Amino acid sequence: MLQRLKMTLPIVQAPMAGVSTPALAAIVSDAGGLGSIGVGATDATGARAMIKETQARTDCAFNVNLFVHGSARADPTREAAWLESLAPLFAEFGASPPTSLRTIYKSFADDAEMLPMLLEVKPPVVSFHFGLPSDDALSALRTRGIYLMATATSVEEARAIEAAGIDAIVAQGIEAGGHRGIFDPTKPDDALGTFALTRLLTRQTTLPVISAGGIMDGAGIGAALDLGAVAAQLGTAFVACPESAADDAYRTALTGPGAYHTILTPLISGRPARALANRFTALAERLADRLPPDYPIAYDAGKALHAAAKACGEHGFGAQWAGQGAPLSRAMPAAILIQTLADELNDVRHKKDQ
Ligand SMILES: Cc1cc2nc3c(=O)[nH]c(=O)nc-3n(C[C@H](O)[C@H](O)[C@H](O)COP(=O)(O)O)c2cc1C
Repeated sequence: MLQRLKMTLPIVQAPMAGVSTPALAAIVSDAGGLGSIGVGATDATGARAMIKETQARTDCAFNVNLFVHGSARADPTREAAWLESLAPLFAEFGASPPTSLRTIYKSFADDAEMLPMLLEVKPPVVSFHFGLPSDDALSALRTRGIYLMATATSVEEARAIEAAGIDAIVAQGIEAGGHRGIFDPTKPDDALGTFALTRLLTRQTTLPVISAGGIMDGAGIGAALDLGAVAAQLGTAFVACPESAADDAYRTALTGPGAYHTILTPLISGRPARALANRFTALAERLADRLPPDYPIAYDAGKALHAAAKACGEHGFGAQWAGQGAPLSRAMPAAILIQTLADELNDVRHKKDQ
């Protein structure tokens, strides 16, 4: 993978829809890692603009990440019940819940415009989260010379990725920030940690494995490589960079007590995702017996609640995704962070040689 993509550092900056930016990705790629943009929450027009901007900023390889979740099923009764449970919170901010909820973005599998756009603009790398697209879509991307990657949270998903002819697997451990890439969230989840998952996938598949989840510094990257990974994918570590799109409240929360208590919850978006502990994640106890609407329909409600709260100066309902290593995050420009990670990795390598 590193040779094929001309990477000189075994570091992937994770795609983070709404948080990673073309500027961030380009800096990481220019430094020898693999920068990523997340276009899962936008349409083909928005994705094209982000890809074009990244192409304009760097000549190096970069990754474009798409969501391939099952189609959201609208269920007005379930959605109305969900909005009713959230109504007291809206009321706290002098607002009413929306009268109905929308599927705020499409799965790549349901979006007829995304594939032709990708084939036309030809980003060097495309990766998939939550599942895999059709064989036809994969072979069309492959024929354009695009390197393909996909997230696995289990051996079963990794085998499906391997069988589909994908080039590399992102092994996402339970520690990871953001949405868990599990293909079917209604199935039991073994919640494998990054350590065990990386070993399982390096031993039980033939593909290059990229470890993701809780890796925040050079020592963590070195550990992933020791486990047999070809690279480490870091998300939370890059959220505090000034080049990310995180808002001030998110940056502040990253340095606060909630960082020590990240919580995996489907309440915010309808799919399990790990976030800094805040007022939204605290709802988990009160709403434990309620089923949120399908992803991303529930996210429409979550975003509306966040907007109502934010208008009153309450920032505790933001989707502040972060992994278990959040307290180790460092607010520094991306170019300095990537150099620091490279230096730390060198240091751990030298110590081992002594
Ligand atoms: C803010 C945020 C947004 C994320 N968005 C995406 C995304 O759009 N696509 C994706 O494949 N993974 C996404 N992830 C998960 C990352 O790819 C990766 O698995 C995770 O960041 C690794 O764990 P870490 O955050 O502890 O480094 C996101 C993670 C974070 C923190």
